[in-house]
Amino acid sequence: MKKETNLNETLNVLFSLKSVRNYSRKEIKKKNLDLILKAAIRAANSGNRQVYSVIVVDDKELMKKYFYGGNKALIFLVDYNRWFDLARHLGYAIEESVDGMRGFTISSMDAMLAAQSAAIAAKSLGIGSLFTTSLHREDMIKVYEFLRLPEKYCFPYLSLTLGYPEEVSKPLKGRVTKGVIHYGKYQSLSQEELQEQIAEYDNEANNLGLVNEQQRKEEGFDHYLSYYFAKWSKSQPKQEIENFYATLQRSELFKVKKFLNLN
Ligand SMILES: Cc1cc2nc3c(=O)[nH]c(=O)nc-3n(C[C@H](O)[C@H](O)[C@H](O)COP(=O)(O)O)c2cc1C
Repeated sequence: MKKETNLNETLNVLFSLKSVRNYSRKEIKKKNLDLILKAAIRAANSGNRQVYSVIVVDDKELMKKYFYGGNKALIFLVDYNRWFDLARHLGYAIEESVDGMRGFTISSMDAMLAAQSAAIAAKSLGIGSLFTTSLHREDMIKVYEFLRLPEKYCFPYLSLTLGYPEEVSKPLKGRVTKGVIHYGKYQSLSQEELQEQIAEYDNEANNLGLVNEQQRKEEGFDHYLSYYFAKWSKSQPKQEIENFYATLQRSELFKVKKFLNLN
């Protein structure tokens, strides 16, 4: 990716963001963790209700199993419990007014913005990070158990691993822009542009790929994207997928009662 020059400090941090998957043992000091959390909750959020929450994890086993061996992980939860508890405390039952999918979407936006702010704050302090949905690939019923999550109105949405990078600095991943950024109106890629973009992914200098190039060639795939589409999306065991949806359903975050007149 072309190196940007003459950037201010904030843009420098933003343009140097990248995922870190190998972490050193160096501890994140409490002072820095507190700053990261403070930056996270500074993020804009719908109605300033903060209908999300964050669990800070540093248990070594959990870090190894789910969070790429980082030093700490922040699990961002779609979570209405605190808000509903406040309402109940004042004698209001507002659960029914949080309309299913919209409520989930808004809470997940709050959670996501906070998570991205945390990643940026971490980077500005020299701390690397990796977003992961690794918990969704686990037995979600067990995830609720070990995090003691409320079954209702709560769902672990996105996690952010934090730690000091061990790896020798890897080049930044490239990004495509055509078909991602639209000006004025939406414009799908033409057949020709699709072909160009397939070549863009194939060009290793652009560093867009996530899979091993050698392996792709050995397996006879002409294009990075053919390999990606054919091989890379591993299917999860059926039971885990069932448990994922079971926890979502149990959370009652998707009851779309109000607008669709469902029970
Ligand atoms: C929602 C989300 C989930 C992700 N999950 C994983 C993951 O489970 N494992 C992983 O190695 N990277 C994961 N990533 C990191 C992406 O692969 C990475 O952001 C992308 O390849 C671009 O690379 P960069 O962040 O280094 O620029 C995730 C990123 C996001 C935003």
